[in-house]
Amino acid sequence: MKVYLETYGCQMNEYDSELIRSILAPHGHEMTAAVEEAEVVLINTCAIRENAHRKIYGRLDMLRPLKKEKKRFVVGVLGCMAQNLKEELFDHPVVSLIVGPDSYRSLPKLIDEVIGTDRQEIEAYLSEYETYGDIAPTRVEGVNAWVAIMRGCDNFCTFCVVPYTRGRERSRSIENILSEVRSLAQKGYRQVTLLGQNVNSYRDEGKRFADLILKVADVPGIERVRFTSPHPKDFPKPLLEAIASHPRICKHIHLPLQAGSDRILDLMARTYTRKEYLRLVEEIRRTIPEIALTTDIIVGFPTETEEDFQETAGLFKDGQFDSAYIFKYSERKGTIASRKYPDDVPPEVKTDRIVRLIDLQRAISLQKNREKIGRTLTVLIDGEADGPGKGAATSKRPGHQMGKTEGNTTVVFPRTPFGPGTMVSVRIHDVSSSTLYGRPVER
Ligand code: SAH
Ligand code: SF4
Ligand code: F3S
Repeated sequence: MKVYLETYGCQMNEYDSELIRSILAPHGHEMTAAVEEAEVVLINTCAIRENAHRKIYGRLDMLRPLKKEKKRFVVGVLGCMAQNLKEELFDHPVVSLIVGPDSYRSLPKLIDEVIGTDRQEIEAYLSEYETYGDIAPTRVEGVNAWVAIMRGCDNFCTFCVVPYTRGRERSRSIENILSEVRSLAQKGYRQVTLLGQNVNSYRDEGKRFADLILKVADVPGIERVRFTSPHPKDFPKPLLEAIASHPRICKHIHLPLQAGSDRILDLMARTYTRKEYLRLVEEIRRTIPEIALTTDIIVGFPTETEEDFQETAGLFKDGQFDSAYIFKYSERKGTIASRKYPDDVPPEVKTDRIVRLIDLQRAISLQKNREKIGRTLTVLIDGEADGPGKGAATSKRPGHQMGKTEGNTTVVFPRTPFGPGTMVSVRIHDVSSSTLYGRPVER
């Protein structure tokens, strides 16, 4: 059958879609990029915020005409929204298959059961063991490969749906991960990004994340190792030392803060205080002076006052992040916050706060980028700067290539004779808040 697969959400979902391709391939299913051609449409969904849900419903609506037109046509909802809403999704007339993140091995069987019939099938059990460790993902060619090192999350931050959609935390074995990374290096991938909801709770028979990342960084052929995300509550010293000491571990840490007010952090059950977070930032900067720090923030969590918000803004000034992903709080069904704290910050207040915080961060990012003018940075080439879906509109420039610094900032420069996956030195001469512009130089 011809299968069209579309992916929403985070890198973990991208990775899962690669697993799904591998699960379907031995059953003779062929992937297609044209939805009109497909007999099976699979949508790998996200549930993290309400707009993620809305986007999927919009997409399902667009599939109605195809469903009417075709005799053999299955639409399956996979991923976090499938796990979160379960049978509720059958209320949408095009959906006949619902499969949660731990049930992908059953996909071929389930597709066979529903295709050409009026049947509906759902499989959405969460597993304590499933890591898909034996399945080699079918990746799209590129420079970077995502590698899930663990699945699930046990943190239960009160706002977050992930522990319910992804289930209990479980780690893959170091050996299993290393053999995947070795084969990636052989296939020509130059960068791996290790994925987990909280990589600092990675465990394999007494070995922890720092042990794993050092081994991954030693795999010949891999030039850069990244990871996302560590939880600030249990950031281990050995990991800092690993990042500081290993030339192939990128000097970049994504350290989700969520809020700068202790009262809100407590309601969120993040289990660290503003002071502890700032102390950690200081320690990181002391150990790795060139580190790039990025973060995630939620504005408008229940009961957040202007004073609370000002504490977040103040922490932005003190913390000097290189960049930040800022979200408006979105109540998620089933979470602790949805049961205990009414979503009482008005939408216009959330909008006002997010706009102010984005403006503040933009100014900080611009300032930090300006400090890079005149410096020569090592850049891993991603591809053409005007390629489809590459980076922000500001970085689309014909005749130019783009790549990433170690700190994960986009750099745009005139085309070199080198292809994606090559490291080049680029001297920076101009910047915006999100992009650096430069010229390749000989070292
Ligand atoms: N495990 C990761 C986070 C994954 S979700 C970590 O802890 O770092 C990515 C980000 O989405 C979170 O860091 C948070 O900022 C945001 N997010 C999660 N739930 C949200 C909600 N209910 N409303 C708004 N933003 C949310
Ligand atoms: Fe969600 Fe918190 Fe787990 Fe991250 S650590 S996935 S924010 S519950
Ligand atoms: Fe990722 Fe969205 Fe699920 S962020 S873990 S796809 S809820």
